[in-house]
Amino acid sequence: MRRYEPVVSSLFVILLVCSRIAAVRWLALYQSKQKSWTDDKNCSKSLGLLGKQTRQCRQNLDLMGTISHAAYVAMDTCQGQFSDRRWNCSSIRKTPKLSRDLARGTREQAYVYAISSASLVHSIARACSVGVTNKCSCGTLPNYPPQGNFKWGGCGDDLKYGLHFSEQFTDAELMKKGKIKNSKKSQMNRHNNKVGRLIVARSMTRACKCHGVSGSCSIKTCWMSLPDFSVIGTTLKNLYANAVEVRRKKRKNMRLFVPVRSNVRSVSKESLIYFTKSPDYCSPDPKTGSIGTKGRFCSSESSGWGGCDAMCCGRGYRSFTKTIVERCECKYYWCCYVKCKTCEKTLHLNVCR
Ligand SMILES: *[C@@H]1O[C@H](CO)[C@@H](O)[C@H](O)[C@H]1NC(C)=O
Ligand SMILES: *[C@@H]1O[C@H](CO)[C@@H](O)[C@H](O)[C@H]1NC(C)=O
Repeated sequence: MRRYEPVVSSLFVILLVCSRIAAVRWLALYQSKQKSWTDDKNCSKSLGLLGKQTRQCRQNLDLMGTISHAAYVAMDTCQGQFSDRRWNCSSIRKTPKLSRDLARGTREQAYVYAISSASLVHSIARACSVGVTNKCSCGTLPNYPPQGNFKWGGCGDDLKYGLHFSEQFTDAELMKKGKIKNSKKSQMNRHNNKVGRLIVARSMTRACKCHGVSGSCSIKTCWMSLPDFSVIGTTLKNLYANAVEVRRKKRKNMRLFVPVRSNVRSVSKESLIYFTKSPDYCSPDPKTGSIGTKGRFCSSESSGWGGCDAMCCGRGYRSFTKTIVERCECKYYWCCYVKCKTCEKTLHLNVCR
């Protein structure tokens, strides 16, 4: 038996390394959105927390609800933005199990890492200004003088703490010395996590409030706040469309990503990167994590992504009508109830073969 040992133990190391690199398993926390985080026992691995994240969980029980919310927002935004695509982000629902589409170094993986780290920054920075925890509070006011007729004041989102926390939480495992840190996947994931954080930081905008006699706005205070997360989601979707395919190159003692295509000069801080080409996601294939588009709804009028031609990959589709009953013509009666009629509505639906 002895001579099998090295094989077994190196297999074990590989498995361990793979699971650690999959630092996005924490998205499984979306299922715990409504739950309370009361004691250390809540911080179990079954929720997708890895290594250091378990400790971070115990130290930040007060923020775990916020982190779960961030996971939910990341999933919801991703599914909303890809609802008319063949790859529709349904794999996040399977976390902490990670399907192959999120583990092979694809463009989809790049997007999911970026949107989850961005969502975490956003949720934590907000939680700070709302007062969910005493680890942070209002963001610091800008240190440059106001340009315009207002004063800095009020309570902005604590971007700095959000960035710091998000990085600690998503990258800790990926920074473990040795195999994990140096692996190509880990380096790609860290890059895309960072893009997510950067996009949130760049999206801070000025919000203001008027004071003075009957809203005369004779005094105006402003602070920096984050936009609605959908704004960040849209930016990231554009970065997904323009993601850069890279390969890793050794230069001196460093390993760098360089674009595969020669018309792209270098990898910018704001580019999502990937090194494995995506499949077309038309048919199920366990090797790539594609679940195929059989049974997906499509639009017979649209010629875009959600159109039946593109969605069903030429396999054709089945049309049918469905009658649904819904509440309609609702009226509000003073005080305090709403009365509705029920209406029947016929839907024309198409489903891919
Ligand atoms: C934490 O533990 C408490 C008590 O056992 C339980 O009610 C709660 O749902 C748990 N929270 C999570 C997120 O599992
Ligand atoms: C995504 O696709 C899968 C299978 O192709 C389907 O079961 C699921 O309902 C879709 N999800 C959304 C949000 O459209």
